[in-house]
Amino acid sequence: MRVNEQQLRTIEYDAARDGLTIIDQTRLPHHFETVLLRSLGDVCHAISTMQVRGAPLIGVTAAYGLYFALRDGDASLSSACRILNETRPTAVNLAWALTSMSTRLETVASAHLASEALVHANALAQEDAMICEAIGEQGLSLLQEAWEAKKAKDGDAQALNILTHCNAGWLATVDWGTALAPIYKAKLAGIPVHVWVDETRPRNQGAFLTAWELKHQGIPHTVIVDNAGGHLMQNGLVDLCIVGSDRTTIRGDVCNKIGTYLKALAAADNHIPFYVALPLSTIDASLHDGLKEIPIEQRSASEITHMQGIDEHGELRSVQVALSESVVDNAGFDVTPARLVTALITEKGIALPNESSLRELLAR
Ligand code: MRU
Repeated sequence: MRVNEQQLRTIEYDAARDGLTIIDQTRLPHHFETVLLRSLGDVCHAISTMQVRGAPLIGVTAAYGLYFALRDGDASLSSACRILNETRPTAVNLAWALTSMSTRLETVASAHLASEALVHANALAQEDAMICEAIGEQGLSLLQEAWEAKKAKDGDAQALNILTHCNAGWLATVDWGTALAPIYKAKLAGIPVHVWVDETRPRNQGAFLTAWELKHQGIPHTVIVDNAGGHLMQNGLVDLCIVGSDRTTIRGDVCNKIGTYLKALAAADNHIPFYVALPLSTIDASLHDGLKEIPIEQRSASEITHMQGIDEHGELRSVQVALSESVVDNAGFDVTPARLVTALITEKGIALPNESSLRELLAR
C-alpha cells in the first residue's frame, strides 16, 4: 500500500540489519515512525503494547519473534512459542502462525533451526499479503453487485456507503488488509466508495488508523462516533457493513473488536448486509460456541480512563477523561453470533456462516 507516494508493507524483514522493521502504530496518525525489532523481547513488547496489532499481523510478527529467539539462543522452540502466544489471547492467528512455524521446524537439525525459521517467517509474510489481496478480489464481487443494485434503484446514487469498525486494513495485516481489501479493490475497479469509519474507542483504531489508511489511498471517508452507526443505518445512509475477525468458530460466530456486535444488531434490524472478511487462518475449527469458548482479552483500565492525541505543538499527549475513582471494564472484543452475519469473505471464496459452508471452504 502507499504512504506519501511510497510503496510500503506494514512489516519488512531488514536483511542488512537482521531485524524486523515495523510501523509503530501507537504513534499514528500524527507521527509516522518505524522501529527495528531485533529480539524475542522486542517482538513481545511490540505485540503487547500494540505497536503492531490486528490478528494476521500479530501472527506474522510472532513468527519473526520465534526466529530471533532461535537465532539468539534465548529460548527453546516450545518456550518461545509459549512466551509469544501469551502476548495477546484473542486473535487465533497468533497460535496459528506459531503452530505453522513449529510444524515446519520439527524435523530441522538444530544447526539450521534459526535459518529455516527465517525462511518460513518470510514465507508467512508473503503469503499473508497474497491471501489478503485474494480476500479483496472475492469481496469486490459483492461490492460490484451492491453498487449495480444501488444504481438500478437510484440513477443519481453518488457512492456505495460502507461502514467498518476498528482497523482491518493493511495496518492489521502485512498488506491490503481484510475488511478494507475489497474497498481498495473497488476503488481500483472504479466503484465510487465512501466509508463510514467507527472511531472505535477505547484505542480509536478507526479514527487513528483506518482514517489514516483511507486518506493515503484517496478513499472518501467520514469518521463517526461509535454510537452513530445505528442512526445512519435507520436513515438509509449505509449500504453494507464489512468488518474483520480475530477468531471465527466453525459455525460462523465472529469475535472482533468490542462494539462489532452492536453494529451487527443494527444492521440486522435495518436489513443491511453485514459481511466479515477474514483469512481462513482466523477460523478456529475446534470451537462451536463463540460466546462460551472464545477467550476475550481484558486490557488496561487506562485505555478507558485516558485518551491520546496531539497538543498545539504536535506532541503526543495523554489526557485523563474518567475519574480515577471510577471502576472501568475494558473487554477488548465481543462475539457476533453467526445468525447476524450475512456472509464470510475469505481468500478461497464466500461462505455462509454455518458449519457445512465453512468446512467446504476449508477443504478446498
Ligand atoms: O485490538 P486490535 O487493534 O488488534 O483489534 C483488531 C481488530 O479487531 C481487527 O478487526 C481484527 O484483528 C481483524 S484484522 C484484519
